[in-house]
Amino acid sequence: MRVYHLSAECYPVAKVGGLADVVGALPKYQKLLGIDAAVVMPFYDRKFTRENKFDVVFSAVTLLDTRRLYFEVLKESTNKLGFDLYLIRIPGLLDREEVYMYPDERDQFMAFQLAFLDWISYSQQSPDIIHCHDHHNGLVPFLLYHSKLYTRLAHIPTVFTIHNGQYHGVLGWDKLSYLPEIDRTQIGLLDWAGAINPLAAAVKCCWKYTTVSPSYLHELTINSNGLEYLFYTEKAKGSGIINGIDTEVWNPKTDPMIPINFTSAKLAQGKEKNKEVICEKFGLSPDKPIISFIGRLVLEKGADLIYDSVKRSLAEYPDGVNFVLLGAGDPDLEKDFLALWELFPGKVGVFIGYDEALAHLIYAGADFLLMPSRVEPCGLNQLYALRYGTVPIVRSTGGLKDTVIDFGDEGGYGIRFNDITVSDICYSVSRAVALYQNKKHMQLLRKRMMDLDFSWDRSAKEYITLYESLKPVI
Ligand code: ADP
Ligand code: GLC
Repeated sequence: MRVYHLSAECYPVAKVGGLADVVGALPKYQKLLGIDAAVVMPFYDRKFTRENKFDVVFSAVTLLDTRRLYFEVLKESTNKLGFDLYLIRIPGLLDREEVYMYPDERDQFMAFQLAFLDWISYSQQSPDIIHCHDHHNGLVPFLLYHSKLYTRLAHIPTVFTIHNGQYHGVLGWDKLSYLPEIDRTQIGLLDWAGAINPLAAAVKCCWKYTTVSPSYLHELTINSNGLEYLFYTEKAKGSGIINGIDTEVWNPKTDPMIPINFTSAKLAQGKEKNKEVICEKFGLSPDKPIISFIGRLVLEKGADLIYDSVKRSLAEYPDGVNFVLLGAGDPDLEKDFLALWELFPGKVGVFIGYDEALAHLIYAGADFLLMPSRVEPCGLNQLYALRYGTVPIVRSTGGLKDTVIDFGDEGGYGIRFNDITVSDICYSVSRAVALYQNKKHMQLLRKRMMDLDFSWDRSAKEYITLYESLKPVI
Protein backbone atom coordinates (compact mmCIF):
# COMPACT_ATOMS: atom_id res chain seq x y z
CA MET A 1 0.00 0.00 0.00
CA ARG A 2 1.42 3.37 -1.10
CA VAL A 3 0.58 6.32 1.20
CA TYR A 4 1.49 9.97 0.61
CA HIS A 5 1.64 12.18 3.69
CA LEU A 6 1.12 15.83 2.73
CA SER A 7 2.51 18.20 5.31
CA ALA A 8 3.95 21.68 5.75
CA GLU A 9 6.60 20.37 8.17
CA CYS A 10 8.73 17.25 8.60
CA TYR A 11 11.66 16.73 10.97
CA PRO A 12 14.58 17.14 10.20
CA VAL A 13 13.77 18.95 6.95
CA ALA A 14 11.79 21.82 8.44
CA LYS A 15 10.39 22.00 11.96
CA VAL A 16 8.32 24.60 13.76
CA GLY A 17 6.56 22.32 16.23
CA GLY A 18 5.21 18.86 16.87
CA LEU A 19 3.69 18.44 13.39
CA ALA A 20 7.26 18.05 12.10
CA ASP A 21 8.08 15.41 14.70
CA VAL A 22 4.99 13.40 13.79
CA VAL A 23 5.48 13.56 10.03
CA GLY A 24 9.19 12.78 10.42
CA ALA A 25 8.46 9.65 12.44
CA LEU A 26 5.08 8.12 11.53
CA PRO A 27 6.05 7.19 7.92
CA LYS A 28 9.25 5.57 9.18
CA TYR A 29 7.30 3.34 11.54
CA GLN A 30 4.69 2.63 8.87
CA LYS A 31 7.46 1.48 6.55
CA LEU A 32 8.66 -0.95 9.19
CA LEU A 33 5.12 -2.34 9.20
CA GLY A 34 5.18 -2.91 5.44
CA ILE A 35 3.40 0.26 4.25
CA ASP A 36 5.09 2.19 1.48
CA ALA A 37 4.78 5.60 3.14
CA ALA A 38 6.25 8.78 1.64
CA VAL A 39 6.19 12.46 2.60
CA VAL A 40 5.41 15.29 0.19
CA MET A 41 6.08 18.83 1.41
CA PRO A 42 6.96 22.28 0.10
CA PHE A 43 10.60 23.02 -0.66
CA TYR A 44 12.26 25.34 1.89
CA ASP A 45 15.67 26.90 1.47
CA ARG A 46 17.09 25.49 4.74
CA LYS A 47 20.08 23.57 6.08
CA PHE A 48 18.60 20.17 5.16
CA THR A 49 17.85 21.11 1.57
CA ARG A 50 21.23 22.81 1.17
CA GLU A 51 23.19 19.87 2.54
CA ASN A 52 21.44 16.97 0.82
CA LYS A 53 21.13 15.72 -2.73
CA PHE A 54 17.88 15.65 -4.65
CA ASP A 55 16.80 14.38 -8.07
CA VAL A 56 14.19 16.17 -10.12
CA VAL A 57 11.54 13.51 -10.76
CA PHE A 58 8.84 15.65 -12.34
CA SER A 59 8.32 19.17 -13.62
CA ALA A 60 5.34 20.96 -15.13
CA VAL A 61 3.37 24.20 -15.01
CA THR A 62 0.36 24.65 -12.74
CA LEU A 63 -2.15 27.46 -12.83
CA LEU A 64 -2.97 29.64 -9.83
CA ASP A 65 -5.75 31.83 -11.15
CA THR A 66 -4.03 33.58 -14.04
CA ARG A 67 -0.48 32.87 -12.82
CA ARG A 68 1.39 30.14 -14.64
CA LEU A 69 3.69 28.55 -12.08
CA TYR A 70 6.55 26.31 -13.11
CA PHE A 71 7.19 23.64 -10.47
CA GLU A 72 9.57 20.78 -9.86
CA VAL A 73 9.17 17.70 -7.70
CA LEU A 74 12.48 16.82 -6.04
CA LYS A 75 13.16 13.46 -4.44
CA GLU A 76 15.80 13.07 -1.73
CA SER A 77 18.37 10.75 -3.32
CA THR A 78 19.70 8.60 -0.50
CA ASN A 79 16.52 7.67 1.38
CA LYS A 80 18.29 8.75 4.57
CA LEU A 81 15.07 9.45 6.47
CA GLY A 82 13.79 5.89 6.16
CA PHE A 83 11.02 6.90 3.72
CA ASP A 84 10.75 8.66 0.36
CA LEU A 85 10.80 12.42 0.70
CA TYR A 86 9.43 14.62 -2.11
CA LEU A 87 9.72 18.41 -2.11
CA ILE A 88 7.69 20.65 -4.39
CA ARG A 89 9.67 23.67 -5.51
CA ILE A 90 8.07 26.67 -7.16
CA PRO A 91 10.59 29.44 -7.86
CA GLY A 92 9.50 32.67 -6.15
CA LEU A 93 6.81 30.95 -4.05
CA LEU A 94 8.07 27.68 -2.57
CA ASP A 95 11.80 28.24 -2.25
CA ARG A 96 12.02 30.44 0.85
CA GLU A 97 13.50 29.81 4.28
CA GLU A 98 10.58 30.08 6.71
CA VAL A 99 7.70 27.62 6.85
CA TYR A 100 4.94 30.09 7.75
CA MET A 101 4.10 33.75 8.19
CA TYR A 102 4.67 35.14 4.71
CA PRO A 103 1.96 37.58 3.59
CA ASP A 104 1.18 35.31 0.61
CA GLU A 105 1.14 32.11 2.74
CA ARG A 106 -2.33 31.19 1.49
CA ASP A 107 -1.11 31.33 -2.13
CA GLN A 108 1.92 29.23 -1.21
CA PHE A 109 -0.13 26.37 0.22
CA MET A 110 -2.78 26.54 -2.51
CA ALA A 111 -0.04 26.31 -5.14
CA PHE A 112 1.54 23.42 -3.23
CA GLN A 113 -1.72 21.45 -3.22
CA LEU A 114 -2.42 22.11 -6.90
CA ALA A 115 1.11 21.15 -7.93
CA PHE A 116 0.83 17.93 -5.91
CA LEU A 117 -2.46 16.99 -7.58
CA ASP A 118 -1.11 17.85 -11.04
CA TRP A 119 1.94 15.70 -10.38
CA ILE A 120 0.05 12.61 -9.24
CA SER A 121 -2.54 12.94 -11.95
CA TYR A 122 0.29 12.64 -14.49
CA SER A 123 2.05 9.81 -12.65
CA GLN A 124 1.70 6.25 -13.87
CA GLN A 125 1.14 4.93 -10.37
CA SER A 126 -1.28 6.71 -8.08
CA PRO A 127 -1.12 6.31 -4.30
CA ASP A 128 -3.59 4.07 -2.47
CA ILE A 129 -4.17 6.65 0.27
CA ILE A 130 -3.57 10.38 0.50
CA HIS A 131 -3.04 11.40 4.11
CA CYS A 132 -3.30 15.19 4.57
CA HIS A 133 -2.11 16.97 7.70
CA ASP A 134 -3.72 20.21 8.98
CA HIS A 135 -5.44 22.98 7.07
CA HIS A 136 -2.48 23.67 4.76
CA ASN A 137 -3.52 20.53 2.88
CA GLY A 138 -7.23 20.80 3.56
CA LEU A 139 -8.30 21.60 -0.01
CA VAL A 140 -6.93 18.35 -1.42
CA PRO A 141 -9.93 16.16 -0.43
CA PHE A 142 -12.35 18.69 -1.96
CA LEU A 143 -10.36 19.02 -5.19
CA LEU A 144 -9.88 15.27 -5.57
CA TYR A 145 -13.59 14.58 -5.50
CA HIS A 146 -15.04 17.79 -6.95
CA SER A 147 -12.69 19.15 -9.58
CA LYS A 148 -13.11 17.97 -13.17
CA LEU A 149 -9.36 18.22 -13.58
CA TYR A 150 -8.70 15.36 -11.20
CA THR A 151 -11.55 12.89 -11.92
CA ARG A 152 -8.91 10.26 -12.67
CA LEU A 153 -7.90 10.38 -8.99
CA ALA A 154 -11.37 10.60 -7.47
CA HIS A 155 -11.32 6.98 -6.26
CA ILE A 156 -8.37 7.58 -3.91
CA PRO A 157 -9.39 7.63 -0.23
CA THR A 158 -8.22 10.61 1.82
CA VAL A 159 -7.43 10.67 5.53
CA PHE A 160 -7.17 14.06 7.20
CA THR A 161 -5.33 14.48 10.49
CA ILE A 162 -6.02 17.50 12.68
CA HIS A 163 -2.97 18.53 14.69
CA ASN A 164 -4.42 21.88 15.54
CA GLY A 165 -8.11 22.66 15.05
CA GLN A 166 -7.75 26.29 16.15
CA TYR A 167 -6.28 27.30 12.79
CA HIS A 168 -8.46 26.89 9.70
CA GLY A 169 -6.55 28.64 6.90
CA VAL A 170 -9.63 30.70 5.99
CA LEU A 171 -9.70 32.27 2.50
CA GLY A 172 -11.95 34.93 1.00
CA TRP A 173 -14.30 33.88 -1.80
CA ASP A 174 -12.17 35.97 -4.16
CA LYS A 175 -9.76 33.02 -4.08
CA LEU A 176 -12.35 30.71 -5.62
CA SER A 177 -10.93 31.48 -9.04
CA TYR A 178 -7.66 29.87 -7.87
CA LEU A 179 -9.34 26.46 -7.79
CA PRO A 180 -9.37 24.58 -11.09
CA GLU A 181 -12.67 23.65 -12.79
CA ILE A 182 -14.69 22.73 -9.73
CA ASP A 183 -18.20 21.31 -9.69
CA ARG A 184 -20.14 24.45 -8.74
CA THR A 185 -23.03 22.44 -7.28
CA GLN A 186 -20.66 21.31 -4.53
CA ILE A 187 -19.40 24.75 -3.59
CA GLY A 188 -21.09 24.60 -0.19
CA LEU A 189 -18.53 22.02 0.88
CA LEU A 190 -15.90 24.75 0.86
CA ASP A 191 -17.97 27.13 2.95
CA TRP A 192 -18.07 27.83 6.64
CA ALA A 193 -19.50 31.07 8.05
CA GLY A 194 -19.32 32.86 4.71
CA ALA A 195 -15.72 32.06 3.76
CA ILE A 196 -13.70 29.27 2.19
CA ASN A 197 -12.59 27.23 5.17
CA PRO A 198 -9.98 24.58 4.20
CA LEU A 199 -10.15 22.80 7.57
CA ALA A 200 -13.95 22.54 7.41
CA ALA A 201 -13.82 21.49 3.73
CA ALA A 202 -11.35 18.72 4.59
CA VAL A 203 -13.50 17.42 7.43
CA LYS A 204 -16.55 17.40 5.14
CA CYS A 205 -14.85 15.81 2.12
CA CYS A 206 -12.24 13.39 3.51
CA TRP A 207 -13.16 9.75 3.96
CA LYS A 208 -11.96 9.72 7.57
CA TYR A 209 -10.44 12.31 9.82
CA THR A 210 -8.35 11.78 12.91
CA THR A 211 -7.27 13.91 15.84
CA VAL A 212 -3.94 13.40 17.57
CA SER A 213 -5.54 12.26 20.83
CA PRO A 214 -8.92 10.75 21.73
CA SER A 215 -9.76 13.58 24.18
CA TYR A 216 -9.15 16.20 21.48
CA LEU A 217 -11.72 14.54 19.21
CA HIS A 218 -14.35 15.35 21.80
CA GLU A 219 -12.91 18.77 22.69
CA LEU A 220 -13.25 19.96 19.09
CA THR A 221 -17.04 19.76 19.52
CA ILE A 222 -16.72 22.26 22.38
CA ASN A 223 -13.81 24.48 21.33
CA SER A 224 -12.65 24.71 17.72
CA ASN A 225 -12.84 28.37 16.86
CA GLY A 226 -16.31 28.23 15.32
CA LEU A 227 -16.33 24.68 13.90
CA GLU A 228 -17.92 23.07 16.97
CA TYR A 229 -21.18 22.23 15.20
CA LEU A 230 -19.32 20.72 12.25
CA PHE A 231 -17.29 18.48 14.52
CA TYR A 232 -20.42 17.52 16.40
CA THR A 233 -22.23 16.46 13.22
CA GLU A 234 -19.20 14.75 11.64
CA LYS A 235 -18.05 12.96 14.80
CA ALA A 236 -18.84 9.49 13.43
CA LYS A 237 -16.22 10.01 10.70
CA GLY A 238 -13.52 10.89 13.20
CA SER A 239 -11.23 8.93 15.48
CA GLY A 240 -8.57 9.89 17.98
CA ILE A 241 -5.14 8.32 17.57
CA ILE A 242 -2.55 9.39 20.10
CA ASN A 243 0.83 10.47 18.72
CA GLY A 244 3.90 8.42 19.47
CA ILE A 245 7.50 9.53 19.70
CA ASP A 246 10.48 8.61 17.58
CA THR A 247 12.42 6.53 20.07
CA GLU A 248 15.52 6.64 17.87
CA VAL A 249 15.72 10.42 18.00
CA TRP A 250 14.46 10.71 21.59
CA ASN A 251 16.54 8.13 23.40
CA PRO A 252 18.47 9.23 26.51
CA LYS A 253 20.75 6.22 26.09
CA THR A 254 22.07 7.34 22.69
CA ASP A 255 20.94 10.97 22.20
CA PRO A 256 23.97 12.78 20.70
CA MET A 257 22.53 16.16 21.71
CA ILE A 258 22.87 15.59 25.48
CA PRO A 259 26.21 15.71 27.31
CA ILE A 260 25.64 12.55 29.39
CA ASN A 261 23.67 9.57 28.11
CA PHE A 262 21.71 7.52 30.62
CA THR A 263 19.17 4.73 31.08
CA SER A 264 16.52 4.07 33.70
CA ALA A 265 18.99 1.73 35.44
CA LYS A 266 21.63 4.52 35.79
CA LEU A 267 19.14 7.29 36.16
CA ALA A 268 20.29 9.33 39.14
CA GLN A 269 23.84 10.04 37.94
CA GLY A 270 22.68 10.73 34.37
CA LYS A 271 20.04 13.24 35.38
CA GLU A 272 22.37 14.91 37.87
CA LYS A 273 25.17 15.44 35.38
CA ASN A 274 22.89 16.87 32.70
CA LYS A 275 21.35 19.11 35.35
CA GLU A 276 24.81 20.40 36.26
CA VAL A 277 25.34 21.42 32.63
CA ILE A 278 22.05 23.34 32.61
CA CYS A 279 22.92 25.01 35.93
CA GLU A 280 26.32 26.05 34.67
CA LYS A 281 24.80 27.48 31.51
CA PHE A 282 22.22 29.56 33.38
CA GLY A 283 24.05 30.20 36.68
CA LEU A 284 21.63 28.15 38.80
CA SER A 285 22.21 25.99 41.84
CA PRO A 286 22.01 22.21 41.20
CA ASP A 287 20.49 21.39 44.57
CA LYS A 288 17.20 23.18 43.79
CA PRO A 289 14.49 21.55 41.71
CA ILE A 290 14.38 22.89 38.16
CA ILE A 291 10.95 23.50 36.68
CA SER A 292 11.22 24.01 32.94
CA PHE A 293 9.05 25.25 30.10
CA ILE A 294 9.73 24.59 26.40
CA GLY A 295 7.42 25.79 23.70
CA ARG A 296 5.93 28.27 21.33
CA LEU A 297 5.06 31.45 23.22
CA VAL A 298 1.37 31.64 22.40
CA LEU A 299 -1.86 31.74 24.40
CA GLU A 300 -2.68 28.11 23.51
CA LYS A 301 0.34 27.00 25.53
CA GLY A 302 -0.64 29.18 28.54
CA ALA A 303 2.68 31.01 28.14
CA ASP A 304 1.01 34.24 29.27
CA LEU A 305 0.54 32.77 32.76
CA ILE A 306 4.20 31.93 33.26
CA TYR A 307 5.28 35.43 34.33
CA ASP A 308 2.87 35.69 37.28
CA SER A 309 3.24 32.02 38.20
CA VAL A 310 7.04 32.22 38.41
CA LYS A 311 6.86 35.45 40.41
CA ARG A 312 4.36 34.04 42.86
CA SER A 313 6.16 30.69 43.23
CA LEU A 314 9.48 32.42 43.86
CA ALA A 315 7.83 34.62 46.50
CA GLU A 316 6.52 31.46 48.15
CA TYR A 317 9.82 29.52 47.85
CA PRO A 318 12.56 32.18 47.60
CA ASP A 319 15.26 29.54 47.98
CA GLY A 320 13.37 26.42 47.04
CA VAL A 321 12.93 26.33 43.27
CA ASN A 322 14.53 27.39 39.96
CA PHE A 323 12.99 27.89 36.52
CA VAL A 324 14.43 27.34 33.04
CA LEU A 325 12.38 28.74 30.15
CA LEU A 326 12.98 28.09 26.43
CA GLY A 327 10.67 29.55 23.83
CA ALA A 328 9.96 31.98 21.03
CA GLY A 329 6.82 33.57 19.69
CA ASP A 330 4.71 36.52 20.81
CA PRO A 331 7.13 39.46 21.32
CA ASP A 332 5.30 40.60 24.50
CA LEU A 333 5.67 37.14 26.02
CA GLU A 334 9.32 37.04 25.00
CA LYS A 335 9.74 40.33 26.90
CA ASP A 336 7.97 38.84 29.95
CA PHE A 337 10.37 35.90 29.96
CA LEU A 338 13.42 38.15 29.70
CA ALA A 339 12.04 40.35 32.49
CA LEU A 340 11.86 37.29 34.76
CA TRP A 341 15.49 36.55 33.99
CA GLU A 342 16.46 40.07 34.98
CA LEU A 343 14.31 40.06 38.10
CA PHE A 344 15.57 36.71 39.41
CA PRO A 345 19.20 36.16 38.45
CA GLY A 346 20.44 32.81 39.75
CA LYS A 347 16.89 31.52 40.02
CA VAL A 348 15.56 31.82 36.48
CA GLY A 349 17.35 30.91 33.23
CA VAL A 350 15.85 32.03 29.91
CA PHE A 351 16.66 31.37 26.26
CA ILE A 352 14.57 33.12 23.65
CA GLY A 353 14.74 31.41 20.29
CA TYR A 354 14.54 27.97 18.78
CA ASP A 355 17.29 25.59 19.91
CA GLU A 356 16.80 21.87 19.33
CA ALA A 357 19.91 20.81 21.29
CA LEU A 358 19.00 22.97 24.29
CA ALA A 359 15.53 21.42 24.28
CA HIS A 360 17.09 17.94 24.48
CA LEU A 361 19.37 19.08 27.32
CA ILE A 362 16.43 20.50 29.27
CA TYR A 363 14.37 17.31 28.89
CA ALA A 364 17.42 15.39 30.13
CA GLY A 365 18.49 17.61 33.01
CA ALA A 366 15.39 19.37 34.39
CA ASP A 367 13.36 17.84 37.22
CA PHE A 368 9.95 19.01 36.03
CA LEU A 369 8.40 20.24 32.76
CA LEU A 370 5.48 22.64 33.03
CA MET A 371 2.75 22.62 30.35
CA PRO A 372 -0.11 24.93 31.37
CA SER A 373 -1.79 24.56 27.96
CA ARG A 374 -5.23 25.99 27.25
CA VAL A 375 -5.43 23.70 24.22
CA GLU A 376 -3.16 20.72 23.57
CA PRO A 377 -4.30 18.40 20.77
CA CYS A 378 -1.63 15.89 21.78
CA GLY A 379 1.58 17.47 23.04
CA LEU A 380 4.91 15.78 22.50
CA ASN A 381 6.91 17.67 25.12
CA GLN A 382 5.37 15.69 27.97
CA LEU A 383 6.19 12.43 26.15
CA TYR A 384 9.82 13.48 25.70
CA ALA A 385 9.94 14.55 29.36
CA LEU A 386 8.63 11.13 30.44
CA ARG A 387 11.24 9.36 28.34
CA TYR A 388 14.02 11.44 29.94
CA GLY A 389 12.77 10.98 33.53
CA THR A 390 11.44 14.53 33.92
CA VAL A 391 8.11 14.82 35.74
CA PRO A 392 5.49 16.58 33.57
CA ILE A 393 3.22 19.15 35.27
CA VAL A 394 0.28 19.46 32.92
CA ARG A 395 -3.15 20.97 32.63
CA SER A 396 -5.77 18.26 32.11
CA THR A 397 -6.63 18.85 28.49
CA GLY A 398 -6.40 16.99 25.15
CA GLY A 399 -3.43 14.69 24.81
CA LEU A 400 -2.02 15.80 28.17
CA LYS A 401 -5.06 14.26 29.84
CA ASP A 402 -4.64 11.08 27.78
CA THR A 403 -0.94 10.55 28.52
CA VAL A 404 -0.24 11.82 32.04
CA ILE A 405 -1.59 10.19 35.20
CA ASP A 406 -1.25 12.20 38.41
CA PHE A 407 1.19 10.65 40.87
CA GLY A 408 -1.57 10.79 43.52
CA ASP A 409 -3.53 8.19 41.49
CA GLU A 410 -2.75 4.51 41.14
CA GLY A 411 0.22 3.88 38.85
CA GLY A 412 0.62 7.65 38.33
CA TYR A 413 3.82 9.58 37.58
CA GLY A 414 3.01 13.21 36.72
CA ILE A 415 1.29 16.26 38.18
CA ARG A 416 -2.06 17.34 36.77
CA PHE A 417 -4.23 20.39 37.37
CA ASN A 418 -7.60 21.46 35.99
CA ASP A 419 -7.88 25.21 35.77
CA ILE A 420 -5.85 27.48 33.62
CA THR A 421 -5.10 29.90 36.46
CA VAL A 422 -1.98 31.16 38.23
CA SER A 423 -3.32 29.65 41.49
CA ASP A 424 -3.59 26.15 39.98
CA ILE A 425 -0.12 26.43 38.45
CA CYS A 426 1.41 27.62 41.74
CA TYR A 427 -0.35 24.88 43.67
CA SER A 428 1.15 22.35 41.23
CA VAL A 429 4.57 23.92 41.70
CA SER A 430 4.18 23.49 45.47
CA ARG A 431 3.35 19.81 44.92
CA ALA A 432 6.45 19.52 42.74
CA VAL A 433 8.67 21.11 45.40
CA ALA A 434 7.32 18.72 48.05
CA LEU A 435 7.76 15.73 45.74
CA TYR A 436 11.33 16.75 44.95
CA GLN A 437 12.18 16.70 48.65
CA ASN A 438 11.14 13.05 48.85
CA LYS A 439 14.13 11.67 46.93
CA LYS A 440 12.97 8.06 47.11
CA HIS A 441 9.52 8.79 45.72
CA MET A 442 10.98 11.00 43.01
CA GLN A 443 13.36 8.23 42.00
CA LEU A 444 10.55 5.69 41.84
CA LEU A 445 8.40 7.96 39.66
CA ARG A 446 11.29 8.69 37.32
CA LYS A 447 11.95 5.05 36.77
CA ARG A 448 8.24 4.38 36.24
CA MET A 449 8.05 7.14 33.62
CA MET A 450 11.13 6.03 31.74
CA ASP A 451 9.79 2.50 31.49
CA LEU A 452 6.54 3.66 29.83
CA ASP A 453 6.17 2.95 26.14
CA PHE A 454 5.01 5.86 24.01
CA SER A 455 6.76 4.74 20.84
CA TRP A 456 4.96 4.91 17.50
CA ASP A 457 4.53 1.13 17.20
CA ARG A 458 0.95 1.04 18.47
CA SER A 459 -0.34 4.25 16.85
CA ALA A 460 1.30 3.50 13.48
CA LYS A 461 -0.69 0.25 13.47
CA GLU A 462 -3.90 2.11 14.29
CA TYR A 463 -3.41 4.33 11.23
CA ILE A 464 -2.82 1.26 9.08
CA THR A 465 -6.02 -0.36 10.36
CA LEU A 466 -7.82 2.86 9.44
CA TYR A 467 -6.30 2.86 5.91
CA GLU A 468 -7.27 -0.78 5.44
CA SER A 469 -10.87 -0.01 6.34
CA LEU A 470 -11.06 2.38 3.36
CA LYS A 471 -11.79 0.45 0.22
CA PRO A 472 -11.42 2.64 -2.86
CA VAL A 473 -14.44 2.82 -5.16
CA ILE A 474 -13.08 2.16 -8.66
P1 ADP B 1 3.34 22.24 19.20
O1 ADP B 1 3.43 21.44 17.98
O2 ADP B 1 1.95 22.72 19.48
O3 ADP B 1 4.32 23.34 19.28
P2 ADP B 1 4.23 19.80 20.59
O4 ADP B 1 4.33 19.51 22.05
O5 ADP B 1 3.50 18.83 19.78
O6 ADP B 1 3.65 21.28 20.46
O7 ADP B 1 5.68 19.86 19.95
C1 ADP B 1 6.60 20.87 20.18
C2 ADP B 1 7.93 20.44 19.59
O8 ADP B 1 8.72 21.60 19.34
C3 ADP B 1 8.77 19.59 20.54
O9 ADP B 1 9.65 18.79 19.78
C4 ADP B 1 9.55 20.66 21.34
O10 ADP B 1 10.72 20.15 21.92
C5 ADP B 1 9.86 21.62 20.21
N1 ADP B 1 10.07 23.03 20.62
C6 ADP B 1 9.13 23.96 20.90
N2 ADP B 1 9.70 25.15 21.13
C7 ADP B 1 11.03 24.96 21.02
C8 ADP B 1 12.17 25.82 21.13
N3 ADP B 1 12.04 27.11 21.43
N4 ADP B 1 13.40 25.29 20.92
C9 ADP B 1 13.52 23.99 20.61
N5 ADP B 1 12.51 23.12 20.48
C10 ADP B 1 11.27 23.61 20.68
C1 GLC C 1 0.08 20.49 17.08
C2 GLC C 1 -0.46 20.49 18.49
C3 GLC C 1 0.29 19.58 19.44
C4 GLC C 1 0.58 18.24 18.76
C5 GLC C 1 1.29 18.46 17.45
C6 GLC C 1 1.63 17.16 16.74
O1 GLC C 1 1.06 21.44 16.86
O2 GLC C 1 -0.51 21.80 19.04
O3 GLC C 1 -0.46 19.38 20.62
O4 GLC C 1 1.37 17.44 19.61
O5 GLC C 1 0.50 19.22 16.60
O6 GLC C 1 0.48 16.39 16.47
